[in-house]
Amino acid sequence: MNITAGGPLESEAGGALATPVFEDLTWGPGADWAVEQLGDWLDAYLDEQDFSGKAGEILAVPTGGRLAFHTLFLVGLGSDVDLEALRKAGGRLGRKAARTVDVATTLHQVDIDGAAGAVTEGFLLGQYRFDTYKSEPKPAKTETLRFIGRGAEEAAGQAVDAAVIVDAVALARDLTNEPALAKAPAVLADKAREIGQSVGVTVKVLGPDEIENERLGGLMGVSMGAHNPARLVEFAYEPADPKAFLALVGKGIVFDSGGLSLKTGEGMETMKTDMAGAAAVFGAIQAIAALDIAVKVIGITPLTENMPGGGAMRPGDVIRPRNGKTVEVLNTDAEGRLVLADGLSLAAEAEPDLIVDVATLTGACKVALGEKIGGLWANDDDAAEQVLAAAARAGERFWKMPLPEDYRKNIDSSIADMKNIGVRWGGAINAALFLKEFVGDVPWVHLDIAGPSRWPDDEHYQSKGGSGFGVRTLVALARELAEG
Ligand code: BES
Ligand code: MN
Ligand code: ZN
Repeated sequence: MNITAGGPLESEAGGALATPVFEDLTWGPGADWAVEQLGDWLDAYLDEQDFSGKAGEILAVPTGGRLAFHTLFLVGLGSDVDLEALRKAGGRLGRKAARTVDVATTLHQVDIDGAAGAVTEGFLLGQYRFDTYKSEPKPAKTETLRFIGRGAEEAAGQAVDAAVIVDAVALARDLTNEPALAKAPAVLADKAREIGQSVGVTVKVLGPDEIENERLGGLMGVSMGAHNPARLVEFAYEPADPKAFLALVGKGIVFDSGGLSLKTGEGMETMKTDMAGAAAVFGAIQAIAALDIAVKVIGITPLTENMPGGGAMRPGDVIRPRNGKTVEVLNTDAEGRLVLADGLSLAAEAEPDLIVDVATLTGACKVALGEKIGGLWANDDDAAEQVLAAAARAGERFWKMPLPEDYRKNIDSSIADMKNIGVRWGGAINAALFLKEFVGDVPWVHLDIAGPSRWPDDEHYQSKGGSGFGVRTLVALARELAEG
């Protein structure tokens, strides 16, 4: 899509014009102008509509030649406007204007720092579709998003950066929505190489032999029952003058059948999305590099299927992830923590300032926080606050959860250093306590996105299916680390 800056309102014409409206038909910038142009005619029209400028409302007014634009979109923002409200409004506009080729807007003139970026993010994400497998795809027709009137130039600049983030979120959504049939570990590793090439990031891929040589016992164990061989991808982005060093680790189970501790049929329906953490890391690396953010970043994604083949790991087997601690595997469906054990060990060895892992780790986290909020754990309060602040700015919701030391005994094993499941209660906490064993002294934040990695419905800038959750938080975090 083209993102451009136009001239003053009076000089613009064609397509649709989208303007902000606040609670009780309080006209925002640009809307006041359009209202004046349309005069009594608009008053009469609005009398017959259910539109008062509340957040969530959007009205398409066919101007019938009374304005130089064939449609006027009145975009309701309510009375309590923040960046996320603008993002959501942008998303609704993106959906509503999907058949409009040319969209001009004054939404960037809402007096909030970063308004244009948020509107653009929402607009473009709202037009996202996963239609790879549709015989008759119906993509959005919008070709141009044009900011007009005061501040247009600056808005277009901001919007271009926002589009880079949207591309990364869309990449993560696409990878997550792709069927497991089409995203074997080797296929995803090729995709990683392609991303690395396009944005200038080094990509190293370990195959089964290297995984064994590097003693990645967690990834080896989980991949034993799979026909498609495992990979481990390591991205490295090294800008000229980095202000910090961030390590990202993403769970990349391309299909989670549960292994021998087999899931139910229903339990497997969405398990192609069990690599959403890895997808978020792919997307974040792509955007961070494309935006030239001054932070050194490595991205580690163990990629494998969790399958019950004849060679599969058995309940009761003991494995040894990279850092040498031993794990008794009592449930092969608690596989995410096993591959993350290797990923986190590798990340800790690199001695970054901060490790952040992203994983669709536990059904229990989804039970605790629902479908639209992720869980956050950390071994360092400052790091937790930093990630929470980045997430809030990016418009992704996380809730901080506890890492109680006295729960560690839940994962004591009678024959090994730990077991891979705890008691039923606090399942998401037990998983986080397990991960903590592999980060050493490095500040670390764990994001469990089992819920929000798949959005349950079409709304504002989200659409049903893979959401790309985590990408925006990670990019915002990198930006904040770069600014010091
Ligand atoms: N990938 C699942 C977690 C999951 C479940 C994500 C539902 C999204 C939706 C994970 O590998 C898993 O199976 N976890 C088990 C752990 C249990 C065996 C301790 C779970 O949550 O049931
Ligand atoms: Mn599982
Ligand atoms: Zn899983």
